[in-house]
Amino acid sequence: MAMIQWFPGHMHLTQKAIAERIKAIDVVIELLDARLPGSSANPMLATLTQGKPTLKVLNKQDLADPERTSAWLAHFNAQPDTRALALDASMAAPAKALIKACHELAPTRGGMAKPMRVLICGIPNVGKSTLINTMVGKRAAKTGDEAGVTKLEQRIVLAPDFYLYDTPGMLWPRIIVAKSGYNLAASGAVGRNAFDEQEVALELLDTLKTHYPQRLQARYKLDDVAQMTDEQLLKAIGAKRGALRSGQHIDMQKAAEIAIYDFRANALGRITLESPEEFAQWLAAGQTLDAERQLKKDAIELDRKIRFKQIPRPDRRDGPC
Ligand code: G4P
Repeated sequence: MAMIQWFPGHMHLTQKAIAERIKAIDVVIELLDARLPGSSANPMLATLTQGKPTLKVLNKQDLADPERTSAWLAHFNAQPDTRALALDASMAAPAKALIKACHELAPTRGGMAKPMRVLICGIPNVGKSTLINTMVGKRAAKTGDEAGVTKLEQRIVLAPDFYLYDTPGMLWPRIIVAKSGYNLAASGAVGRNAFDEQEVALELLDTLKTHYPQRLQARYKLDDVAQMTDEQLLKAIGAKRGALRSGQHIDMQKAAEIAIYDFRANALGRITLESPEEFAQWLAAGQTLDAERQLKKDAIELDRKIRFKQIPRPDRRDGPC
């Protein structure tokens, strides 16, 4: 299976904007998708934000498995300089919870002399605009034309001594974990043309079969899905939902679209695709593979430079006999 890799065009610009803004920031809010808190995080953010106190907001909690959300919150809350809370767009007053958590993370900030300066980041479609709109309500003002606020960001005044800086939602993780790519695609974060629905649906069904078998059985009226291969399961879903081509063949593409749509629409109930432990394992394996890939790339590059005489050939007499 090919790795899903998708870089929206302006990612580099956003990184530059964040690196510039971070110098005068007290707290970073990282918006995550509660259904995939590991995969929707950006590993580059920690480097960019240089260890600033971080508030992890697990958004779309209304779609996620409450038990797994609690596990993720505990996981993040155990990290240094980190707090975590779960939200959803229907919350009437998310600003209050966010403001309180930021003050706990940076207790020396506040008051007109030292206003709290907060940067909010998140991958596309995570719900940043929705959250900001809910928070802005009627009280807050949005500005983008003060000194030091680039065209790429907006300053939102949530309270007289609380500024929220919004970067464009184009920060995209470099995907080194194949499963993260599939989970991001299933969630709706990845552009439709960047992935193959059948591959994504098969991976999704594999996860659902392992963690939520009864939900699959109830939704599609199937027996013991644990006994089925992922392909058999997708076929069975297609058959149950009438996804047929001529000659009564199952239309696997249609079946895949149904499975993905049902997951996104919460038709299978509240689901979280990864636990902190699972994600840690995937990440460790992904990092090992990535390091091996990098070593191979370095060796090819060295060979190229030697062949084109950009650097001298290592003297064989120095090597082992
Ligand atoms: P972004 O700025 O981070 O790119 O995301 P945006 O706010 O535009 O939200 C993306 C989609 O997610 C929107 O759906 C929005 O309604 C939905 N959303 C945001 N927060 C929540 C939440 O807490 N719970 C749920 N259930 N949904 C949320 P949309 O406008 O229907 O767009 P689409 O993704 O269906 O195309």
